[in-house]
Amino acid sequence: MEFKAIVDPRAHSVSACAVIGMYDDGLMDDAARRVDAHIGGLAAKIHAARDFAGKLGDTLLLAQPAGSKARRVLLVGQGPKRKFGRKPYRKAVQAAAQALLKTGAADAVFYLASDPEIDLDPYTRARIVSEIVAAQAYRVPDLKSGPKPKPPRLQSVRVAAADARVAKTMQQGLDHGAAMAGGAAFSRDLANLPPNVCTPTYLGTRALALAKELKRVKVRVLGERQIKALKMGAFLAVAQGSAEPPRLIVCEYHGTDRKTAPVCLIGKGITFDSGGISLKDPPAMDEMKFDMSGAASVLGALRTVALLQLPVNLVVIVAASENMPSGTAVKPADIVTSMSGQTVEILNTDAEGRLVLCDAITYSRRFKPAAVIDVATLTGACVIALGNHLSGLMSNDETLAQQIEAAGVRADDRAWRMPIGEEYADQLKSNFADFANVGGREGGACTAAAFLSKFADGLHWAHLDIAGTAWLGGAHKGSTGRPVPLLVDFLIDRARAK
Ligand code: BES
Ligand code: MN
Ligand code: ZN
Repeated sequence: MEFKAIVDPRAHSVSACAVIGMYDDGLMDDAARRVDAHIGGLAAKIHAARDFAGKLGDTLLLAQPAGSKARRVLLVGQGPKRKFGRKPYRKAVQAAAQALLKTGAADAVFYLASDPEIDLDPYTRARIVSEIVAAQAYRVPDLKSGPKPKPPRLQSVRVAAADARVAKTMQQGLDHGAAMAGGAAFSRDLANLPPNVCTPTYLGTRALALAKELKRVKVRVLGERQIKALKMGAFLAVAQGSAEPPRLIVCEYHGTDRKTAPVCLIGKGITFDSGGISLKDPPAMDEMKFDMSGAASVLGALRTVALLQLPVNLVVIVAASENMPSGTAVKPADIVTSMSGQTVEILNTDAEGRLVLCDAITYSRRFKPAAVIDVATLTGACVIALGNHLSGLMSNDETLAQQIEAAGVRADDRAWRMPIGEEYADQLKSNFADFANVGGREGGACTAAAFLSKFADGLHWAHLDIAGTAWLGGAHKGSTGRPVPLLVDFLIDRARAK
């Protein structure tokens, strides 16, 4: 899909659909009023007749209105004006995108919320349009036989700007939003694939394909022998029960001078988590194909950053493996030596995420990173704590944690700070090794992060537990693409700060 900012002071562009907003009291901003003036005040009349109340998220399609250069006008409710801001705006755009994609319109012009009184800068306003419209157009790659549903007609979206200067910042917002949605779609596709297709080997192949597709990206995929040579005993313990060989995927993007320390993103890439010998209950086991969502999201973020050619250096590390029971599988009570030299007693083979991540964190040190963020569907406890709304955020660095939190707010992909500390680490005490890999049910998300923190000493490190946010169950089961927006916003912010 194509997104373009245009200067359209008369609000009278030729299009298949003009999208305008109306508050619940019938008020419209300047651009919307102009569109309405061309069609004889039809929108205002409809509101006066009480056929459209302007409730936030309501839409009404006006077909072929006389006087308009747009073949359709889509009226979008913005709710009460005094409450209007980023969140209601997002909801209005979402409703507009949904309605628009159901029409036969191949192109549209957005005149939404151009009101200068609204506390939304043009960059953000534009970014939200491209991000949401592109995300709404995403379709799950299904393997259903029979005729495929027709893809949406919509190909091009223009956003009206007041003047050329505003159009320029809006264009940047549109480009960023579209690239974010592209990265999220890449991530969602990977996570939605069945685990017999999306294996560690497959993830490696897709990463190598990214290196071909993108400029300034270099990818290396390490196999079992090389992982052994690195002495990643914790990672290997998880992989040893599976017929599928593990992969350590290392991607480097150089967007600025080589002396600048990179940000390092690490993804948990368990392509299927059966629990291993500590086998999970069958009912929801199928959902554990999403256990590589962290990996998918860091690869998606890399794709976005490289498409935008952001002036940052980025390293992406994915520890990819299956977690399976078998005669060769790791057993509860096995003790392994991690790459850091610290030993771990594996009391529960289902706490495998932290085992692959701890070695990836140690590996990241060779890049002398400015910051390390690991992203993982790590604990069911985090889902209990935060539900599906916010990701868990733990960090040993105040500044980094605040930056990540702020990025989540701006991108509407929020994370909530949770504690790590000695009291949680104490739950991991073992009589036989440096630590156990589990610390009981209480505070499970925090003890998991406390475990990781033992490998992040001296690093500026943060952990995102996305177990609740990476996918949704129920009728619309599938990957959400989170936290690609958060990660990309964080990196855009860093690129700006330079
Ligand atoms: N991949 C799971 C975490 C998970 C659970 C994600 C439910 C999404 C939904 C992880 O590997 C796991 O099994 N964690 C265990 C840890 C426990 C054994 C300490 C858990 O959360 O039950
Ligand atoms: Mn597990
Ligand atoms: Zn897992």
